[in-house]
Amino acid sequence: MARITHIGHDKGNLEEKRQTILSLREISLKGGGEEKIASQHKKGKLTARERIELLVDENSFCEIDQIRKSQHSELEMEKIEGDGVVTGYATINGRRVFIYSQDFTVLGGSLGKTHAKKICKVMDHALQSGCPIIGILDSGGARIQEGIDSLAGYGEIFYRNVMSSGVVPQVSIILGPCAGGAVYSPALTDFIIMNQINSFMFVTGPQVVKTVTGEDVSFYDLGGSEVHGSLSGVSHLVGEDEEETINLAKKLLSYLPSNNLDDPPQEIDDIEENGQDILSDIIPEQENEPYDMKKVVETVLDQDSFFELQESWAKNIIVGFGRLDGLTVGIIANQPLFLGGAIEYNAADKAARFIRFCDSFNIPIITFVDVPGFMPGVKQEHEGIIRHGAKMLFAYSEATVPKLAVITRKAYGGAYIVMSSKHLGADINFAWPTAEIAVMGAEGACNIIYRKELKKAENPEQALQDFVAKYKKQFSNPIRAAEKGYIDKVILPEETRIELSNALKFLQNKRIDIPKRKHGNIPL
Ligand code: HXC
Repeated sequence: MARITHIGHDKGNLEEKRQTILSLREISLKGGGEEKIASQHKKGKLTARERIELLVDENSFCEIDQIRKSQHSELEMEKIEGDGVVTGYATINGRRVFIYSQDFTVLGGSLGKTHAKKICKVMDHALQSGCPIIGILDSGGARIQEGIDSLAGYGEIFYRNVMSSGVVPQVSIILGPCAGGAVYSPALTDFIIMNQINSFMFVTGPQVVKTVTGEDVSFYDLGGSEVHGSLSGVSHLVGEDEEETINLAKKLLSYLPSNNLDDPPQEIDDIEENGQDILSDIIPEQENEPYDMKKVVETVLDQDSFFELQESWAKNIIVGFGRLDGLTVGIIANQPLFLGGAIEYNAADKAARFIRFCDSFNIPIITFVDVPGFMPGVKQEHEGIIRHGAKMLFAYSEATVPKLAVITRKAYGGAYIVMSSKHLGADINFAWPTAEIAVMGAEGACNIIYRKELKKAENPEQALQDFVAKYKKQFSNPIRAAEKGYIDKVILPEETRIELSNALKFLQNKRIDIPKRKHGNIPL
């Protein structure tokens, strides 16, 4: 019979192995080295790991692939443990997330094959485990030395961004350069958060711009937070510094479910329901006088719960998350303070994308309506208001989450239809007594329908006023719409919160079947 021998470990050898692992970890922790870290700090930037520490619950981060090295062979260059990106999983306010954070101290955070594979690995885990994926980006883009491998790496990340879309929330925090094709990964995610100082996003940098178009432009003016926060609409939130930017990501996550099968987290709302009375005085006496719709939204929602997105872009429409009796809701509201609340092409894009996010993640949508119409003008037509407005119609019609609406004042023409009207499948539509639901405003309408009478009138101005008064009595109120069932209930402004909250509770388990198809073809 063969003797079974037990081969014991050599203690010395084991110690050596432990030391090897520990020293590899230490090398990896140093990233690009002390000097590069100091230079990063000097620019007012934190390191990849310092950023993760700010983002996650204390001691919750588990790093993976810490000592994974670049595998390229095309160009001789240093192969650094970790390959310029820190990846792993952690909890944020007790909820599981997967994370990657690019390390600018290693070859400028540039993306090579291993770097990309590490990101893909956490993206795959996030998708399979139903957890949000958060990327912290600070990178010089495709690692030039790795050529086509880095392009392939980006392609694989983009593919995963698309496969994860609508399944797990994807958040990109930009804390450094994000240039070239690299911008398309954040652009494919649900939310982009930038910081005021060090975030830059552009497809072609200032140098290329100068060569091709002759324009002289700084990094900041080409793709800084102000550009993307207020002009391009690329960024959803802007923080003052890195800490605030990271805190914005945490706050955003607090409204979102972990995946498309989960419900959004519910908070207990024990705030007394007072302060609703101010709503009864909010609509100005003067017909076209603006008022701040944000006040309406903030009063109706749970106290301090409104979290606005894309605040400085297309200000004529407001989008953001909030809570009603502790439940997450998505808010879309016309803002009469800007362009009278008219919908122009950017506002349509802003609303449509937000609606689609809410619908993907089971977040009920509440729409506040005060809209004079689509914005008229040559620029609007030439920029494609037809195509952009259609996105909004598509998004509202397609959304199957509970859809509630409140018309506070104007709801005219095509814009009445688009703003979550019953005709697009909204569930419960309320109107305040001040609501005016009509094809167009009284004066414009009378000028058309009484054109002949006005021409003949001795005093056309007086005649117009009389016609306008008659028209308003007949059409500019919510009664007609309520009589036809297009409005479910005319409510007093101070009843808005309780009415919305009741409707929301009853619609919570709404299920509707949509026709079987591969996917619709939203006008893009
Ligand atoms: C390799 C890079 C790199 C890159 C920076 N580095 N970008 N290494 N590939 N893409 C290295 C630098 O050589 C330097 O190394 C270190 O990172 C820090 O860079 P600096 O230039 O010293 O830093 P800074 O002055 O802060 O400028 C940062 C920067 C600049 C603006 C990002 O480095 C830059 O313009 N880089 C090139 C950006 C670029 O064109 N990327 C390709 C985009 S195209 P040492 O050893 O000196 O410290 C792209 C295609 C993607 O990404 C396509 C996807 C479909």
